[in-house]
Amino acid sequence: MKGVILAGGSGTRLEPLTKVTNKQILPVYNKPLIYYPILTLRDAGINQILIISGPGHAGQLLDLLGSGKKLGVDLIYDIQEEPRGIAHGLAIAEDFADKGPVALILGDNIFEDNLKGAVMNFEKQERGAKIIIKKVSDPERFGVVKFNKKEDKIAKIIEKPKNPPTNWMVTGFYLYDNRVFDIIRSLNPSARGEYEITDLNNFYVQEGTMTFQKAKGRWIDAGTFDSLLEANVFIARKERAKNNVISNNE
Ligand code: DAU
Repeated sequence: MKGVILAGGSGTRLEPLTKVTNKQILPVYNKPLIYYPILTLRDAGINQILIISGPGHAGQLLDLLGSGKKLGVDLIYDIQEEPRGIAHGLAIAEDFADKGPVALILGDNIFEDNLKGAVMNFEKQERGAKIIIKKVSDPERFGVVKFNKKEDKIAKIIEKPKNPPTNWMVTGFYLYDNRVFDIIRSLNPSARGEYEITDLNNFYVQEGTMTFQKAKGRWIDAGTFDSLLEANVFIARKERAKNNVISNNE
């Protein structure tokens, strides 16, 4: 399966940090943010990756990552002319997907979990989609899952609800069959003018072909000042533990 990283968007929640820099290049302890989704795909067995970013920032990503060889992946690049939604960005990957399924990961998502099992399970699924969900204390910031009565299937996904029905949110790692590109073409823009990933996911939910897996370990969307700081602290602790560095402050 091929992988797509969405690294566009305007990063307004992180201004002025993102005024001249792509959000995905900001540091998370010892690596730029985009390294984490690249390594998540690679460790899930996905090596052929398309990075989609906005017109102003693609050069920075290319300068930073090049062919991807040093990270053990094969990278190519494309441009989303305007940030018109996550589903709109994914549509650019149609030729790259070459009639096969695709894995999509958002450029600001950090997973501690290894998602190889999810990819392998999805490959056994005849058709449909799969999402990775996570229990959080602030679900209103995200796409939120409502389950059926038995809690074994997703009944609906609601984007940034004021009154979340559960604490289970949809992370930025998605697996889709190749019909995804036709389905995106059938979507209408939302009230905020974007082609929403949640509308795309709800198509599969309604069709009964959406499956899910719960993420193990930490998961962080580094798109705000506080979550970027949280990501830095989390990775710093992990890296120091790995290198046996003990700080007096911890
Ligand atoms: O992180 C998970 C959440 O991501 C999900 O729970 C939500 O359902 C989903 O809508 C999304 O919410 P965000 O508010 O975090 O999305 P954001 O606009 O910050 O975009 C996420 C990433 O996608 C970001 O790294 C930039 C990229 N992006 C976004 C848009 C709207 C693009 O490349 N192009 C775009 O047009």
